[in-house]
Amino acid sequence: MNAISMSRRFALLAVASAAMLSACSKQETAPAAPAAAPSAAAPAAPAPAKVYVVGTDAAYAPFESVAPGGAIEGFDVDVVKAVAAKAGIEVKFVNTPWEGIFKTLDTGERDMVVSAVTITDERKQTMDFSEPYFNANQLIAVKEASKVAKFDDLKKLKVGVQTGTTGDEVVQKLLGKTSTSIKRFESTPLALKELEAGGVGAVVADNGVVQHYIQNNPAAKFKSVSDASFTPEQYGIAMKKGNTELAKKVNDALAAIKADGSYDTIHVKYFGIKSTLTAAAPATAAPAAAPAPAPAK
Ligand code: ARG
Repeated sequence: MNAISMSRRFALLAVASAAMLSACSKQETAPAAPAAAPSAAAPAAPAPAKVYVVGTDAAYAPFESVAPGGAIEGFDVDVVKAVAAKAGIEVKFVNTPWEGIFKTLDTGERDMVVSAVTITDERKQTMDFSEPYFNANQLIAVKEASKVAKFDDLKKLKVGVQTGTTGDEVVQKLLGKTSTSIKRFESTPLALKELEAGGVGAVVADNGVVQHYIQNNPAAKFKSVSDASFTPEQYGIAMKKGNTELAKKVNDALAAIKADGSYDTIHVKYFGIKSTLTAAAPATAAPAAAPAPAPAK
């Protein structure tokens, strides 16, 4: 009996508080409702904030990939979200095929392309880049049993690359632009699957992606081979050529997250260590609280 009356009371209370809550929320939203048609006298409503559309080829973990729920996640996503928060702008990620991804800047379909894009002189002719946000280099993936020990050993093999990437360019230099030994794929995971299947003898792609794949696909039994001939690369946020307004916002925010440690936090989250980028770039960092380490002699 006691228990029943208790639960009844509780139910009543719940109903009452729900009613109060809805009354409250009605009250809160009420003043907004009558603001019907904008009259000439009323001040103009603020224009809806622009949402900057970010194109990314989300088949490039750990930089960008599609989570089971469908959201796009990864290092690049976290960096851009932090940049956007600092810059006070809104961003929305849209999965975009790598082939043709840069054209979407010119057409205006995308405001930024953030897709582990290496800043190259050639690309700089047709698009603008932010300051670098990641240091990378090419890396060779082969089967564990492979005898490949250096880049030159790939001359005898069929080599898989993602079309139009810097990996593609590097392999073209080794094998020749029109070499039939270059097998091009629309995504890097597809190239790596082909390595697993034995259709190619090696894949050349960005180090972060190759390492991530090897770690997460032990059954594939791959190993990586580095080569001193691979030149350092840096990722940048690509924007339409001449969009200096956005570039300034992005660069200021990027410098700010590098300086306040939030960039480092993201880097550590994905790679377990701080970036060589912030360590080697005191020029963009805020005045250090602690004395900088003595320069190496
Ligand atoms: N860093 C390389 C490049 O710029 C590969 C980038 C590929 N990115 C991707 N999300 N598929 O060419």
